[in-house]
Amino acid sequence: MKINYFGHACISIETGDKTLLIDPFISGNELAKHIDIGRLNADYILLTHAHEDHILDAEAIAKRTGALIVSNYEIVSHYTQKGLQGHPMNHGGKWVFDFGTLHYTQAVHTSSFPDGSYGGQPGGFVMVTKHHRVYIAGDTALTYDMKLIPEVIGELDLAILPIGDNFTMGISEAIKASNFLLCNKVLGYHYDTFGYIKIDHKAAFLSFEKAKKELVLLPVGGHLKL
Ligand code: NI
Ligand code: MN
Repeated sequence: MKINYFGHACISIETGDKTLLIDPFISGNELAKHIDIGRLNADYILLTHAHEDHILDAEAIAKRTGALIVSNYEIVSHYTQKGLQGHPMNHGGKWVFDFGTLHYTQAVHTSSFPDGSYGGQPGGFVMVTKHHRVYIAGDTALTYDMKLIPEVIGELDLAILPIGDNFTMGISEAIKASNFLLCNKVLGYHYDTFGYIKIDHKAAFLSFEKAKKELVLLPVGGHLKL
């Protein structure tokens, strides 16, 4: 499994011959100017919530690739009304796709579209394939419900958590989340993109080290293999 980081909260996961693109916000990200959205692969586009910094490039990429949009019911309806393909989910549900299973999880956040229209309730995903389990938290506060994830779904190989604070969890909450999730390997995202969420990398690594946990921060365009 290969996990590519395209800045902010945008990642793609390559598993077998399928690619899942998550929360594409690239053309609006100063730090991702070198990423060409016209060249990104996607069989699936997963959207955690409707905020612009998660959906900006979803429509263009879905149109070009024919990718299936997976999100909450309201977000999927928004795109299927535009003629795109979608699969609606809601909290607590799971579905078996050709690459594996997706669970749609809780997130404590908000989810309006850029024009103010209703984007359902925000969420996250746990992706379960033959060999790996990866949690993609989406924008969320630290929540006690995270404890349910390993209990109900099973042991995680990686937790992808927001660490930028202000709009989501920050570093210390992400460490606590990693305790709740029983997963010591964290890929940080949703940081540095704009002023409110700039973090001190050195301090972040130190905090994780002190907690005997691994924090992975990727350069934009970088990847991680599981
Ligand atoms: Ni958000
Ligand atoms: Mn966000």
